Amino acid sequence: MIRITGATLPDGTRSDIFVANGRIAPPGTPTTSIDADGLIALPGLVDLHTHLREPGFEQSETVLSGSRAAASGGFTAVHAMANTMPVQDTAGVVEQVQSLGDRHGYVTVRPIGAVTVGLAGEQLAEIAAMARSRAAVRIFSDDGACVHDALLMRRALEYVKTFDGVVAQHSQDPRLTHDAQMNEGVLSGELGLAGWPAVAEESIIARDVLLAQHVGARLHVCHVSTAGSVDVIRWAKARGVNVTAEVTPHHLLLTEQLAAGYDSRFKVNPPLRRDDDVAALRAGLADGTIDIVATDHAPHPVEAKECAWDEAAFGMVGLESALSVVQAAVVDTGHLNWADVARVFSAKPAQIGRLDGYANPFAVGSPANFTLYDPAASTVFGIEHLHGKGVNSPYLGRTLPGRVVTTIHNGYPTVSDGLLVDADIVAATAEATHG
Ligand code: DOR
Ligand code: ZN
Repeated sequence: MIRITGATLPDGTRSDIFVANGRIAPPGTPTTSIDADGLIALPGLVDLHTHLREPGFEQSETVLSGSRAAASGGFTAVHAMANTMPVQDTAGVVEQVQSLGDRHGYVTVRPIGAVTVGLAGEQLAEIAAMARSRAAVRIFSDDGACVHDALLMRRALEYVKTFDGVVAQHSQDPRLTHDAQMNEGVLSGELGLAGWPAVAEESIIARDVLLAQHVGARLHVCHVSTAGSVDVIRWAKARGVNVTAEVTPHHLLLTEQLAAGYDSRFKVNPPLRRDDDVAALRAGLADGTIDIVATDHAPHPVEAKECAWDEAAFGMVGLESALSVVQAAVVDTGHLNWADVARVFSAKPAQIGRLDGYANPFAVGSPANFTLYDPAASTVFGIEHLHGKGVNSPYLGRTLPGRVVTTIHNGYPTVSDGLLVDADIVAATAEATHG
């Protein structure tokens, strides 16, 4: 039995936490103690939007390297996006990804299924087969590409409705964003980069909330980036549409100004926007219009990022820095308290993904998934804080608040004293758990 002494729970109360046999236990006689004085115990973070790149792009990330990055950031579960090679559009591929996650054991890996075959936007994938598979997929997304055909989107919503699934849409009108490189506005004109108008995102969200209402199905909106999108989602929720939405840590903190140096670490899809968008995203997260934070962790090899802005890949890594960036953007600014963070970064994403075990994280009997976090720490974020394969972090050299000290996944440490636990040890305990 492990005893964690003096942790501060998200609601601000101090408590000891006991863990035995993978679960939160009643007080007993510990064999190990962890001093959590001054640390916040947060429920294990659940990412609804992670690119693990395996199979097919193992030079960018693998299930193992991405799982380690996740654990180091305080995550105990991630949902793996479907844009792998082969694409996660069959039961076989999603089962493969889940098995890799189970074997490595750093986090629970839940594959997301593609909406369309090969993400090509032409023909529906085997949605029902992926839902019925051992991976029991509940989230379907063509992320990286938008399901822009309205009839296909309608059919996908009709399918997922039959098993309580959800379509997670990457909202980007392809015609309005052809060759687009950064947020459309005065700055894109000055920099000579093709603009990405807010309406390209907002118009798809508006269409999709109406489709979701028409079908009576669940819709999830990926990486909301504009103030207008927040308005549309607020309007939809007021009408009773079954819609949820996510915002990334980077869209809560960074703005398009960073594109001015043509440093492609700041090139991301959707693009960084303006100050007033950031303010609206923070307010939307605080008032519940935006339900969750999700990382959109998107590792790329150095050659794909160290080139001219126009040619560079879209995306930034985010698992390792996520909690610190959330603290900087919305906790230290007074928008959210730690109980809110627990909701938007654990309970709610688990609920959207229909992932069990996260509803009452510190109740006796619940699976022991939590992280001990030091909000008073401050770090100059460096390469040594990155544990996946990607080094395309926009925060390198920045001072960020907070530090993940310990992560417990299914009762066993994956991060201890700020260091990742050895892969063999984690795999052995995972084997004991999964058989
Ligand atoms: O920046 C992004 N990168 N946005 C996406 O939608 C896809 C992702 C990727 O796969 O690299
Ligand atoms: Zn996306």
